[in-house]
Amino acid sequence: MIHSPIKGLTALVVGAGSGMGEASAKTFAANGGSVVVADLRAAEAERVADEITREGGLAIPVALDVSRQADIDAAVEKTIQKFGKLDVVINTAALVRSAMLESVSLEDWRAGFQVNVDGALMVARSALPWLKQSSHAAIVNTASLAGVHGYSQGGAYGPSKAALITLSRQMAHEWAAYGVRVNVVLPGVIDTPMARGSVPQEILDQLATMLPMSRVGQPEEVADLIVYLASRAAGYITAQAIACDGGMSHMMFAKPMGK
Ligand SMILES: NC(=O)c1ccc[n+]([C@@H]2O[C@H](COP(=O)([O-])OP(=O)(O)OC[C@H]3O[C@@H](n4cnc5c(N)ncnc54)[C@H](O)[C@@H]3O)[C@@H](O)[C@H]2O)c1
Repeated sequence: MIHSPIKGLTALVVGAGSGMGEASAKTFAANGGSVVVADLRAAEAERVADEITREGGLAIPVALDVSRQADIDAAVEKTIQKFGKLDVVINTAALVRSAMLESVSLEDWRAGFQVNVDGALMVARSALPWLKQSSHAAIVNTASLAGVHGYSQGGAYGPSKAALITLSRQMAHEWAAYGVRVNVVLPGVIDTPMARGSVPQEILDQLATMLPMSRVGQPEEVADLIVYLASRAAGYITAQAIACDGGMSHMMFAKPMGK
């Protein structure tokens, strides 16, 4: 058993202004890691970094759009200036634009891939020179069950998450030689602003009754898996796509309603 799985590590957490990214940044810091809280929404990045600092953790905020290489490079530079190294990249940022395939605009389709796939590649590549110098380097991306199963009305979301799963595995294969582990997490239905913004509450409630565990997941539960995969405790785990879904992906039939 490793006593300090996180202590002394530095993480860049992209999409850390809300939901699972916020929970991952807080869990990482609570376990003794230093965190760069990066998000498109500067105010949310600042709020999360402040909350971590008030709890006695080490964190700085960075405003960044994961689809812009210049923003990413600046965030990595700020990480090195502040903490002197970069061991872990956690990427939870995503763009969801609901649409049917028949009518989704090419603009929305490309925007989905730009944030969900290009963004993950750009962050990882910008961090790579520093990850190569780390004695414990790890990347954890966040895809979705929608990247494995059909998901109606999701536009580019599911296809881009499928690409992110394969991208993560390719990174794991190519970068194992540098000592960089890469894994990807597949959340089920998790109670975050994204889920609440894209699915009406009554549908979420109804869905919860059909899940094996009779409830949706909490962002902290996914954060525990993300931070574990980023930690020294997961030293021999790479190229894995791991669901955190309360059993949703392996139900043969939906649970009878209300039971
Ligand atoms: N909530 C769910 O049920 C669910 C299910 C499966 C997968 N996921 C995935 O989990 C991840 C986290 O989702 P969440 O539910 O915590 O979402 P969330 O909306 O609570 O948080 C996402 C954060 O990413 C930031 N972000 C968005 N676009 C960005 C960009 N271009 N650059 C930088 N930051 C950006 C947002 O500002 C936000 O703070 C996403 O990749 C999402 O696709 C969520």
